[in-house]
Amino acid sequence: MDGSIIHPGNRRPRQFVYPGRMRLSSRLPPGFELNALSALLARLRSEGRPVLDLTGSNPTRCGFAYPEADIRAALSVPAVLGYDPDPQGSRIAREAIATHHGHGLRAGELLLTASTSEGYGLLFKLLGDPGDEVLVPSPSYPLFDWLARLEGLQARPVPSYFHDRWHLDLGALEAAAGPRTRAVVVVNPNNPTGHFLSRAEWSALTALCGRLGLALLVDEVFADYALEPPADRLATALLDPDPPCPVFLLSGLSKVAALPQLKLGWIAARGPGAAECLDALAFLADQYLSVSAPAQAAAPALLALAPGIRGQVLARLRANLASLDAALTAHPHLSRLPVEGGWSVLLRRPAVDGDEACALRLLEQSGVLVHPGSFFDLPGDGHLVLSLLTPEETFRDGLARIFPSL
Ligand SMILES: Cc1ncc(COP(=O)(O)O)c(C=O)c1O
Repeated sequence: MDGSIIHPGNRRPRQFVYPGRMRLSSRLPPGFELNALSALLARLRSEGRPVLDLTGSNPTRCGFAYPEADIRAALSVPAVLGYDPDPQGSRIAREAIATHHGHGLRAGELLLTASTSEGYGLLFKLLGDPGDEVLVPSPSYPLFDWLARLEGLQARPVPSYFHDRWHLDLGALEAAAGPRTRAVVVVNPNNPTGHFLSRAEWSALTALCGRLGLALLVDEVFADYALEPPADRLATALLDPDPPCPVFLLSGLSKVAALPQLKLGWIAARGPGAAECLDALAFLADQYLSVSAPAQAAAPALLALAPGIRGQVLARLRANLASLDAALTAHPHLSRLPVEGGWSVLLRRPAVDGDEACALRLLEQSGVLVHPGSFFDLPGDGHLVLSLLTPEETFRDGLARIFPSL
């Protein structure tokens, strides 16, 4: 969902008539059209109206100083010219990823994918039959809905709740689990709420999954971006060497090195049956062999560069959060939720109009693009989602333009 206007939250099904007797899979929406916010954005841009975008999540367009020569050198090693595919991914790349994570992770516990999103596709194929479902504590990353549907599964949202901080509703998760439930999908820290699981939540959640025979998918793409982390946070699922349920950790270069264009993600498997699951995942991956040789060959060098790039990203996130806090002091009717981690912040405003209506109004009247909380299933109206990755001046100017009308 890298700032593009075509992410799933931006599309609304429209009835579409295909020629003759042709019919597409019912896994797809019946048609495609931009939602109202994306349509308005497209119109304003076509009219040449300048827009301050406070939603950008594509790091390559946010003005970071990438070590370009080093990245090019990483992609120029002799191995980029060879093709010696391993369905699990090249050993050398997996070893570098294992070292990046630490916590005793071994190369043998990893499988490479072309992205975290592809990792979800493989895991949903691995774990479910058409008609099965996965539980997703919400609010969460909206792509899960479609990633699950495209595999014939249903992603069932289970609302989390906010009380000083976000909490998983473990009782609701247990109540929602039925005979067709195969897995729970959590994002740690979550997008867009920034919620890190607490260690107590982790123990309870893995015990619940173990008891109900569910797998646990833990998306840790933002784990390196802790901003206001509580002391009891679960920094990574890898802190648990022996979970009572199968655990699949997902991550990738897209956030770890802010290099989404490299298209390299990975799955780490632990817990009961992990070795068998990795064999099955390798069988699935072997049907596509979608991870490019250049990305795998470059991975060790890119991971060595990643801390420098992440340092810039973290500085940006902190600077924007400080600007937001400074701006909020003059507008006491507005507030923000804590950002335990990640690239987004939730702005709370009086719900005088619906979230989407408010975002449309801000775009039309102030030329500022924000995401309505409803795109991420935030409950009620009164939340806007801002990207802390936004270039600092744009972020400050955008806030100055929209605050008076919130
Ligand atoms: C929580 C989460 N998971 C996965 C992804 C996708 O990552 P990738 O580019 O590796 O597919 C994103 C992208 O924004 C995300 O926010």
